[in-house]
This record gives sequence, structure tokens and C-alpha cells, in this order.
Amino acid sequence: MLDKYGRKIEYMRVSITDRCDLRCRYCMPEGIKKVSMSQILTYEEIVRICRAASELGISKIKITGGEPFVRLGCTGLMRDIKAIDGIEEVTVTTNGQTLEKYIDELRDIGIDGINISLDTLDPERFEYITGRGELGKTLRAIELAAGSGIKTKINTLLQKEFNEDEIKDIAALAFRYGIDVRFIEMMPVGAADAETGLSNTEVLKKLMEIWPDLEPDGSVHGNGPAVYYRRPGVKGSIGLISAIHGKFCQYCNRVRLTSQGQLKPCLGFDTGTDLMPVLKRPHDETDHELKEVLRKAIIDKPKAHSFSNEGNASDHAEQRLMSQIGG
Ligand code: GTP
Ligand code: 5AD
Ligand code: SF4
Repeated sequence: MLDKYGRKIEYMRVSITDRCDLRCRYCMPEGIKKVSMSQILTYEEIVRICRAASELGISKIKITGGEPFVRLGCTGLMRDIKAIDGIEEVTVTTNGQTLEKYIDELRDIGIDGINISLDTLDPERFEYITGRGELGKTLRAIELAAGSGIKTKINTLLQKEFNEDEIKDIAALAFRYGIDVRFIEMMPVGAADAETGLSNTEVLKKLMEIWPDLEPDGSVHGNGPAVYYRRPGVKGSIGLISAIHGKFCQYCNRVRLTSQGQLKPCLGFDTGTDLMPVLKRPHDETDHELKEVLRKAIIDKPKAHSFSNEGNASDHAEQRLMSQIGG
């Protein structure tokens, strides 16, 4: 369906948990209180919302967290969402720490894409940034995902004086595995300080110095805001998600569902519609009331975020952690 600015909204990011097995400093620092399971949407409720959303034109679902694989039974949920009429793609974004356990099942379900977060190839830096992660597990996950035939993408957040010297080595994974590597500008959400992030204009300049044959890749790689570059005759692409400097809000195609049942129309604002009250009321198979609440929330989607690298300047600036809103 279209929102009031005429944008076609067809992609819903569904955060199924705020929990994570890592503690990335910018996303979920140590000491964060967990939300109790009683406040979290059940899988039945998530499927019900996806079904209603699909009737309104949502055809692509991204499963996120926190870390989605820490919630027991998440692959069953992915299977159920895949089976909904009108849902064309179900993809997942993960830190990769436990992906090895699930990769065969994901292939069996027919999952349409796996995005794996990787900020560094240095084991000590990896432990520092993630609080408790093992680099080897994420690298193994990338290798397995790339070899599985499932569309695989790496997400990298670059930070000044931390990992900016790794642009080349991380980008080279794209050509090594024939996958996508995306550099994401740090957004001032929750614990993140956008000032520590790198501008993708600088990143592109560095990439062009390393691979002067890089050229824009116009093919569609996914449903997100990344812009891609490739090398003629070489498999794999490099994507830039210019969350601060790129103004992609006018092309925005998505809404978000938090694990606590808030339909969140824009990443940058703390506003949204609490679906819990509607979910608790009796409903028939048309699920009319839920669809109307979703329709209204989608129509009223804000025009744009107001991030800058000085912070989030809006009245209703999102203060929650990225892990609580699903990235
Ligand atoms: P695919 O390419 O289809 O896999 O989608 P994606 O890039 O949206 O997926 P992913 O979950 O890997 O998100 C990558 C980054 O893009 C994360 O840092 C997201 O927060 C960011 N992102 C996704 N949607 C938006 C958005 O609407 N606005 C902004 N500013 N950033 C977004
Ligand atoms: N800004 C941009 N991206 C972020 N992510 C987490 N926090 C931020 C932030 N503040 C990324 C993770 C993951 C993706 C879903 O969101 O690195 O790859
Ligand atoms: Fe967990 Fe991903 Fe957040 Fe790191 S960035 S704490 S892996 S949800």
C-alpha cells in the first residue's frame, strides 16, 4: 500500500527478540535489562501480524533481533511466515555466532537471504567490539552461508580509529566469496555515537583507490537502502548504506515491528502504534480491526528521519537501543 507521501510500503522488519548473545558497544552495551517474555509478541501473534500486513501489500519480511537465533524455535516462525500467501521473501539478519547450527534448516525452509554482521577481522578487536563474541564463529558462518547458495551479505560498521584500516580486507571478502559486503554509516540511535562513524563518501573514495575499476551496480540486491558497486567480470559487490549522508527516506519502503508489538513507521522516531491491545481482543478470520490499525500506522509514516552526525534532532528522537528496535 501507499503511505501519505506516495511511497510504496512493501517491506516489514520484524524484531523477534531484544536479546542477544553479544554486547556490541553501539547496539547493546553490557548491563542492559532484558524485557520479560510476557511482554514479547508470541510467534502466533507475529504470524498474525505478518498475515494482516501481507493483505495490505507487505511482501518482504526481514527477521531481526537483537539476535534472532537466540529465540528458541525461530526457524519454525520463519517457515510459517514463508507459507503466508503474498509473502515473497523472508530474510534474516544475524551476528552469525550460532548460524552453523541452523544453516541446513534455513536452506530447507527456502530462506531468501542471510545478512551477517562483521566489523573486524582482528580477533582482539572483535572481542572488544562485541563484548563476548568469537571471530572464528562469524567467519565460519560467512563461509557456510556463502557456500549454501542462499544470498549472503556482510554488514560492516566502520568507526574512526578503530577499524577504518580494515576497509580493504573486509571489502575483499565480497570478491573472495562472490557475495555482498555493505558498509553502514553509524546512526545516532541508542548507545551509538554517530560522530565515531565514517562517512560513506570517504569509504567510496578509499575503495576507488584500491579498485579503480569499481563501477555502479544497478541490479536489485535486496529491499534495503544500500547502493552497490561492482568490478567488471568479478563476482561479488560492495554496498554502501549511507544512513546519515544519503537521503533515502523519499524512497523508503518499510515499517518495523518491535518484539514488544510496536509498529514503528520510521527508525528515527520513538513513535509508533502499540498493537498489543488489538491483539488481545477477539477477532474473526478477516482480522479487520488489526488491518485497519496497521493501515493507519503505515499511512502516517513520517516523511524523513532527522539524523545527523551530531545526533538525532527530532522531537521524538529514538532513544531506545538498536537491539530493541531491530536495526
Ligand atoms: P536487504 O538488503 O534486503 O537485506 O535489507 P537491509 O539492508 O534493510 O537489511 P539489514 O537488516 O542488513 O540492515 C542493514 C542496515 O541498514 C542496518 O544498519 C539497518 O539499520 C539499516 N537500515 C535498514 N532500513 C533502514 C531505514 O529505513 N533507515 C535507515 N536509516 N537505515 C536503515
Ligand atoms: N547504526 C547503524 N547500523 C547499526 N547496526 C547496529 N547498530 C547500528 C547503528 N547505530 C547494524 C548492525 C547490524 C544491522 C542490523 O544493524 O551492525 O548489521
Ligand atoms: Fe547483537 Fe547485532 Fe546488536 Fe551486536 S549489533 S549486540 S550482534 S544485535
